[in-house]
Amino acid sequence: MSSHFNALPLEVILHILSYLPFEALVAFGGVSRASYRAHILCLRRLRLAVFEKRIHCMISHLQAGWATPEQVGKFAGDEDIRGDYTISIIQPNVKRIDHDAARKPSTKTNEPRSRSQSQQDRSRVQDQMIRMQNRVFTKLVNRYGPSLIKLEFMAYDIDIEGAQALSTKCQHTLRHLALRFEHPHIRDGYMRPSSWLHPAPASTVWNLLIGIGQYQGMGMSGLESLVMERAGITPWQLMMLVRNNPRLTVLKMRTCRGVQPEFLDWLGGVSRDTEEEDFLRTEDKCHVPGENLEVLWLENCHQIVTKSHEHPKDLAHDSCDLGLEWVRGLKNLKSLSLNECMNISSECVDRANQTIWKIDEVVLPYSYHSPDSTIEVDPALL
Ligand SMILES: *[C@@H]1O[C@H](CO)[C@@H](O)[C@H](O)[C@H]1NC(C)=O
Ligand SMILES: *[C@@H]1O[C@H](CO)[C@@H](O)[C@H](O)[C@H]1NC(C)=O
Repeated sequence: MSSHFNALPLEVILHILSYLPFEALVAFGGVSRASYRAHILCLRRLRLAVFEKRIHCMISHLQAGWATPEQVGKFAGDEDIRGDYTISIIQPNVKRIDHDAARKPSTKTNEPRSRSQSQQDRSRVQDQMIRMQNRVFTKLVNRYGPSLIKLEFMAYDIDIEGAQALSTKCQHTLRHLALRFEHPHIRDGYMRPSSWLHPAPASTVWNLLIGIGQYQGMGMSGLESLVMERAGITPWQLMMLVRNNPRLTVLKMRTCRGVQPEFLDWLGGVSRDTEEEDFLRTEDKCHVPGENLEVLWLENCHQIVTKSHEHPKDLAHDSCDLGLEWVRGLKNLKSLSLNECMNISSECVDRANQTIWKIDEVVLPYSYHSPDSTIEVDPALL
């Protein structure tokens, strides 16, 4: 039976395998060497979520658009569309033993634990959770990475192990990458609830994805779309990542550290005379690094600031995009979102779009026409 199956052309085998749910696919991969190779080739799109609780996982699935409310009900089976695999892993009580061990001294002395000490414990356990999430990610990427064209990862953050797997196994073939680390509905886990509101800490981990220094020869280079939520990537790392991926047309960033004027000016080819280190610019004076971008979403990023206008009538002139001049350089842009960027004036954006940019879809930072339209929900009712 199996030898008949293996005698089929590879395309036919892959087509048949694409109907299997993930577990059956993995089981098939264990049958023989040939079936192992086939099952790896079959896995082209992978979404992985690693959380502490099933409910955390469900809500994150909904928010990321991985599932519709109807699908969440039958969540246990992880409904897959053909060739699209979604894997959810629940890791409750990570290193609970360590956590308890850390508690012991204080229970002995019967003294209330100092706030800073328990905070330290908390961030240690949080780091352990992140390591654990990345270990799962690494395992899957090491096995399936070379055949993946689309990969999404939902967790608390990426660490060096996960980044290394990503940048070595998915280097040239991966087209679509999403890293989602913002899950503000999780308020009862190891993550401090307030940490969801800000980008993750800056980290050298991102250097692996751009392949610099000791990581030369690694890094992503074939990305067409990149989604990052609550990423600690710095403006410079972000520049390098975009520069290394010239086919990038979709860039969606939410709560990202790197979304700052220096990155955006570079992206739109705006030169600031004051800059000393403009080696990135010297390559080609009139090249606009972001000119291929069709979709650019910058959400909940507060470091983009529109300059205030001395006279309201300034708005009418061609300086109404002051602070956002970089948008002019992005000639192919069809969708721009500045949703929830609180230091940008919606009025300026609206005016600039009408008079200068003329981009098909523009999402304003907030709705300014009808300030009464915000719906307030009493937290007690939730
Ligand atoms: C943007 O606004 C926030 C408040 O939402 C403020 O704390 C911050 O300093 C502002 N950032 C800049 C660069 O002006
Ligand atoms: C921006 O301009 C385009 C083209 O003029 C228009 O179709 C679109 O509705 C505008 N968007 C907003 C939010 O004003």
